[in-house]
Amino acid sequence: MSNIDFDLVQNLYKQFSNSAPAKESKAEDVITPMPFHMANEDMRREMWTETGNLLLQQGAVAAFTLAGGQGSRLGFDGPKGAYDFGLPSKATLFRMQARRLMNLGAKAGKPVPWAIMTSPLNHAETIHHFEDHSFFGYNRDYIRFFDQGMLCALKPDGTPLQDENGNYVEAPDGNGGCFRALAMSGTLAWFVEKGVRFVFLCNVDNALVKMCDPTFIGALASNGLLPCAAKVVHKKNAQEKVGIFAYKNKKPTVLEYSDISDELRNKTLEDGSLEFDGGNTGMYAFRMDALRKISTQELPWHVARKTVNGVENCWKFEQFLLDAFPFLGKILPYGVEREDEFAPVKNATGSDSPESARKMLGTLHRYWLEQAKVNVKPGKLYEISPRLTYGGENLSQEVFDRELGRGIFEFDA
Ligand code: UTP
Repeated sequence: MSNIDFDLVQNLYKQFSNSAPAKESKAEDVITPMPFHMANEDMRREMWTETGNLLLQQGAVAAFTLAGGQGSRLGFDGPKGAYDFGLPSKATLFRMQARRLMNLGAKAGKPVPWAIMTSPLNHAETIHHFEDHSFFGYNRDYIRFFDQGMLCALKPDGTPLQDENGNYVEAPDGNGGCFRALAMSGTLAWFVEKGVRFVFLCNVDNALVKMCDPTFIGALASNGLLPCAAKVVHKKNAQEKVGIFAYKNKKPTVLEYSDISDELRNKTLEDGSLEFDGGNTGMYAFRMDALRKISTQELPWHVARKTVNGVENCWKFEQFLLDAFPFLGKILPYGVEREDEFAPVKNATGSDSPESARKMLGTLHRYWLEQAKVNVKPGKLYEISPRLTYGGENLSQEVFDRELGRGIFEFDA
């Protein structure tokens, strides 16, 4: 029997068809910048790392990966996490996340609980990917999969869209559905049972993601007043089309490119840096009580008019994770270097593609080796297994000589 929520989609249709297209920002909104500091320049950094490591030892930190998207821009026929983006080791995005968490878990002496949100469209394939690879060696008691909600698409006249076999055409309810799905699937309760107090939440597609980064977790934990933190990067330039953290009517929010005027977008501080900076990277840390709070909130719905199953101008409804931030009232923007932590795989070619992610990872790992005074070959890039290092530590010429071709690989740009 179908459990499609027709009432919800019909109500959304009424709401959106009776009003002018919703504008994300109105003229009367007061938009102010959200300044941030780079974490690697902060004197409290070591203290944060120690705090984060202590929390990991206590089993108080979990990871939560959003993997319910359809990855349409990449055009890969399968779950994006199962995508091998051409590294010498053939590591998939899921494998990299798993192995980085295992590195942390081994150091902490406790596995890190890991929740992965899929959608009904890719759930079975995701599980197969993990099964085919013996869960990458991850402790099965500490990994949990659940799928997000789906909503039926509507035809232009507001009636439910059906395919040629008469089945309703559904699509995932957006990454904002993650909070509801986390609670409804029992995963929030699972976190509580495991003693989790902080949750690192990330997209599936960032090849450089520092899963459960202890320094980041420690920074949030050290500020008792803050419900959550977000990693941000400097914008490449004023025109870069990336969401930025700012305040709207004094509440933290992420502004899309079109949400701010040209004038604000180009505004600079005395030192020439952009006033509206702080690009969203999709890496966040939440206190458990903040997650609990959002999971009971009704986030706003957004509508997209799209061609679905060959029918033009259909209605699709989604919730966005970013709409959670105004509810939380406060946030810690945590500045990180793009080249150290942010290589998203979104597009098939060009920027944010498998090629750019491979190059960024290869360049970063080469830099780690150089820092460890290893003799690397001119012009070569390197891939280092997360079995050997989490963020560049524990590397030496001896490790390099022993691991080349096993846990360290050389490749061309
Ligand atoms: P994106 O917005 O980049 O979407 O998702 P996508 O599905 O990966 O790619 P396109 O836009 O179809 O090309 C950001 C993160 O949110 C997750 C994605 O899996 C990704 O990790 N997501 C997105 C969900 O978990 N559920 C959704 O309904 C949408």
